[in-house]
Amino acid sequence: MARKKLAVLISGRGSNMAALIDAARADDYPAEIALVISNIPGAGGLSRAAEAGIPAITIDHKTFGKGADGKRDFEAALQAALEHAAIDIICLAGFMRLLSAAFVNRWRGRIVNIHPSLLPAFKGLDVHAAMLAAGVKIAGCTVHYVSADMDAGPIIGQAAVPVLAGDTPETLAARILVAEHKLYPECVRRVALGEAPIDEQDIVAVPGDGGGALFNPPVR
Ligand code: GRF
Repeated sequence: MARKKLAVLISGRGSNMAALIDAARADDYPAEIALVISNIPGAGGLSRAAEAGIPAITIDHKTFGKGADGKRDFEAALQAALEHAAIDIICLAGFMRLLSAAFVNRWRGRIVNIHPSLLPAFKGLDVHAAMLAAGVKIAGCTVHYVSADMDAGPIIGQAAVPVLAGDTPETLAARILVAEHKLYPECVRRVALGEAPIDEQDIVAVPGDGGGALFNPPVR
């Protein structure tokens, strides 16, 4: 089967992008990273992608003006770049722009995101501090299809990570990020293979036994 062409959309350092690039180096990975797009000029991930020999471009949303017209024109530029590169699947990886319903619906089932919480809990920004403030004992990350509502599309996969005594937002984020870098390539692999279909209830079924439960505190 031909490898699917992925575009990774970033706004920052691009560590999840790098995890996808690394995974796609394997001969049996069903996708290749064909394009990286940043909406922020000089984002760290751009140079990482270029070092890996992957076409990396900037489409700066600020050059399109404010308001609905600016958003429409920004998304038209995105769409043109994606079509030019014959992209099959879009992976959002720390991409800090909300995409319109029109754009997202056009890519339904072919656009995914990673979020550093166990959705639907802790949507939005500053989630690590919010989790600590809530006193949760198990945190984690979620890979999901993107829908018009933020952090709300069908869930493809999740990884659980314990919250430890003395955690700061930074230490918790670092622990979750390790899990993100494993979960995202695995979920994208399944999407590329067509093994993560969305059913009529907007649910993605996951086969297997789930690998057991994570208890925190550990149970004797
Ligand atoms: C990650 O924590 C991701 O879950 C969130 O933004 C962060 C991006 O980090 N959406 P990176 O740019 O992939 O290193």
